[in-house]
Amino acid sequence: MNAAELIEKGLERAFDRAAEARSSRDEPSTVCPGMLADALRYAIFAGGARVRPKLCLAVAGASAGPDLCEKAVGVAAAIELIHCASLVHDDLPCFDDADIRRGAPSLHCAFSESMAVLVGDALIVMAFDAVGREYGDDPAIGMKLVRVVARSAGPPAGIVSGQAWEAEEAIDLRAYHRSKTGALFVAACEAGAICVGGDPSPWRMLGQRLGEAYQVADDIRDVVLPSELLGKPAGADQRHRRPSSVSFFGLQGAVEHLAALIDDAVEAVPESPGADALRSLVIAQADRLMAHVEHRETRERRA
Ligand code: IPE
Ligand code: IPE
Ligand code: MG
Ligand code: MG
Repeated sequence: MNAAELIEKGLERAFDRAAEARSSRDEPSTVCPGMLADALRYAIFAGGARVRPKLCLAVAGASAGPDLCEKAVGVAAAIELIHCASLVHDDLPCFDDADIRRGAPSLHCAFSESMAVLVGDALIVMAFDAVGREYGDDPAIGMKLVRVVARSAGPPAGIVSGQAWEAEEAIDLRAYHRSKTGALFVAACEAGAICVGGDPSPWRMLGQRLGEAYQVADDIRDVVLPSELLGKPAGADQRHRRPSSVSFFGLQGAVEHLAALIDDAVEAVPESPGADALRSLVIAQADRLMAHVEHRETRERRA
């Protein structure tokens, strides 16, 4: 099985644990309500790029050899569940009020606002359940993973804080990006090292730089791509007056900043048995991010 298939399997396992009792009529108290089960499936299996769990498996493979990366599947799935939760909550009217996500109606539009709040809550709980169950036979590793995932999601500098910066008068762009996006990339890198018995600290910088690059690319895409290609509403940052790399550096400055962050990320790959393969993966992801920027230039040339 390749990394992408392993990740889908890990997510299916987590979903089944949450929704498996659905058809049982023997024990009604353990049955997952049907709409919640449908909404969880909608949130998890909607065509996400799975960038964070792929990074987690890649770091595990780079630190300990590709045959051991399977050990990272449980926590990689947990990290993707936290990511899916963050998107469901982020799209709610009280945050970005986005009616499409991944090219389809956002969860609160397809179901309801109350269901979207519950689905986000459920996905966060399912993430910690996944870590508890999948690393239960090695509590020392399991406990470290719980803390890494918690740090990426909660305060002081995880996703919750990233979203909370939007309520502050003055926002530090770097702190905002690092919390709302970078923290989960850092967790993906650290968790990949931890679950194969490695030291997470050399991998933090890679996660930080990749996460920052990813958000800068997202800020650029928000300005240069139409909603149909984004799969989410275009121009959202300006509409909500969010601080973004484009409002801060200008479009050209943001593109240059992105290129520098990508170079820094490649340099941040620690020496390890699979370092070259991981550098190639970072470069391939960077080409994907840069392709969107070039798309704008191509359109401008044609116009
Ligand atoms: C979207 O993340 C939110 C950002 C941090 C930019 P992704 O672009 O990874 O979203 P999916 O999971 O592929 O839809
Ligand atoms: C990305 O925030 C990080 C989250 C916590 C969801 P954005 O608001 O910039 O992400 P998109 O553009 O909606 O995917
Ligand atoms: Mg947002
Ligand atoms: Mg948003």
